[in-house]
Amino acid sequence: MVVFWRKKDLSGHLEAIRDSGGTIGLVPTMGALHKGHLSLVEKAVEENDVTVVTIFVNPTQFNDPSDLEAYPRTLDQDLKILQTIKTDLVFVPSVKEMYPVENTQVFDLGGLDNVMEGKQRKGHFNGVAQIVSRLFRLTSPTRAYFGQKDFQQLVIVRHLVKILEMNIDIVGCPIVREKDGLAMSSRNVRLSREERKLSPFIYKTLKQAAAQKRTLTPAGIRSWVTEEFRKQPGIELEYFDIVEDKALRPVINWDEKVNKVGCIAVQIGGIRLIDNLNFD
Ligand code: PAF
Repeated sequence: MVVFWRKKDLSGHLEAIRDSGGTIGLVPTMGALHKGHLSLVEKAVEENDVTVVTIFVNPTQFNDPSDLEAYPRTLDQDLKILQTIKTDLVFVPSVKEMYPVENTQVFDLGGLDNVMEGKQRKGHFNGVAQIVSRLFRLTSPTRAYFGQKDFQQLVIVRHLVKILEMNIDIVGCPIVREKDGLAMSSRNVRLSREERKLSPFIYKTLKQAAAQKRTLTPAGIRSWVTEEFRKQPGIELEYFDIVEDKALRPVINWDEKVNKVGCIAVQIGGIRLIDNLNFD
């Protein structure tokens, strides 16, 4: 495994691989790696000649400075884990290396950034688009891997490659869960014991909500979920919605011929957790 800190060293190395006809798989991460990330890396290793994992806590996607500061950073451990799963290349740039001057680029994300996470975290997806587009330009990957846990991000990255006319296959990978159902996330380590005990309620409620499709309308399910969280102390519901899986429009009727996803965000002890489930 080779670790790069500089853009020019990484791009030089990748150019040689591309010139010899090799495929490149990119796994962008912010580190604090868990089994969810590893499933992305394993898939990339399986499907490509060379896999690049990037570790960069991207400041431009944090609208809350205290959230940026509290974001877990575990580089030594991350590198050890990546070595055990046969990662070829790791890119660990500094903020200066990625943004030598302030990045003011604004992307037209087609309104996909105005709902759900985008409503709660102003500018978040523009920041994601800034870093992801830079990493795409730098590595020109054949495929790039993103987790379905960040469902809205996945939809927006697919939109991004379209508007930038980049020929990159965006691969969405299934959510990896703890035994009790909590979706794996780098933020989970910040939960106290008590908060961690509460957290399976999120997935349990999503599953119960999906099971009520026969008896409740989408609006009825939205109200039911809101009520369940109102009755549950210690967890604050930020939003729950059932949306169409491409345009992210709220679903009104079950008979709409679109794939439907139930998306949720909550706060437990000030820590934001998101999850989603197929509602087809
Ligand atoms: O999903 C993440 O960890 C980040 O949003 C990403 C895609 C690595 C961009 O910083």
